[in-house]
Amino acid sequence: MKEMTQETEATAAASGQRATERFREQKASAAGTDKERVNRLASRVVKAINDTVLEEKVTYDEYNAFKAWLIKVGEDGEWPLFLDVWVEHSVEQVANEDRHGSKGTIEGPYYVPDAPEQQSPATLPMREDEPGTPLLFQGRVTNLEDQPLAGAKVEIWHADDLGFYSQYAPGLPEWNLRGTVIADADGNFAINTIQPAPYQIPTDGACGQLIAAAGWHAWRPAHLHLKVSAPGHQLITTQLYFQGDPHVGDDIASAVKPELILDPAPRADGNGREVTYDFVLDPE
Ligand code: DHB
Ligand code: FE
Repeated sequence: MKEMTQETEATAAASGQRATERFREQKASAAGTDKERVNRLASRVVKAINDTVLEEKVTYDEYNAFKAWLIKVGEDGEWPLFLDVWVEHSVEQVANEDRHGSKGTIEGPYYVPDAPEQQSPATLPMREDEPGTPLLFQGRVTNLEDQPLAGAKVEIWHADDLGFYSQYAPGLPEWNLRGTVIADADGNFAINTIQPAPYQIPTDGACGQLIAAAGWHAWRPAHLHLKVSAPGHQLITTQLYFQGDPHVGDDIASAVKPELILDPAPRADGNGREVTYDFVLDPE
């Protein structure tokens, strides 16, 4: 068998299994064991499914197709992908509704903690011949009173110019386009990277099967993922998008907000583009 070494040979099953393993390592917990709460939430979900069956007069063929599909989501390891695309945006809305600072949005399935740390100004780890338009992403991290948060931590990860994430597609260096950048004493950060490509969620697994069967599309607009934090302040998980992206108004994951759209300008030295975006963190 040919060895899988190229990112373009990524499969839904492989990236899905990886996302599932990662989730188990980092986040799986038995949160909310309160019986009343479990009863309430589980009853509502089950009722929503039953209401759909009754109101839509779902047939046995459709019920069996649903059952087969649910089994395949698990086999492909695609529960993290499915949930982060179709459900996480509502969880994020609830979680961040009281914030006054920068807008958050979904984390998605491809965060990896502890990316190599660098002081600002930084260049993200990338291949020598990394394809794509160079992008200088810079800004300032402040509190709600516009005071700089010295040494704030900016974690950033994003897809490459073909839409693939390191550690989830084969053949990419471990930390490609992933980094932890420490802002300077004035809360300023500057990060050299490349512009990510629009990202298509894997189309060859269970989620892709649903998308094709329903006549949807699989695209997310190009995006930078970020986690920004500072001592005494709430960490914000967010994404930033690009003005003019064909999918910015039509994200399969419903994660775009108008405040999160960047409009980079050509750099004076002609070397790619640059954009400034400031983060405002809420107190803990
Ligand atoms: C998915 C991928 C992403 O890059 C993202 O930001 C959100 C969701 C996904 O494949 O489910
Ligand atoms: Fe993403």
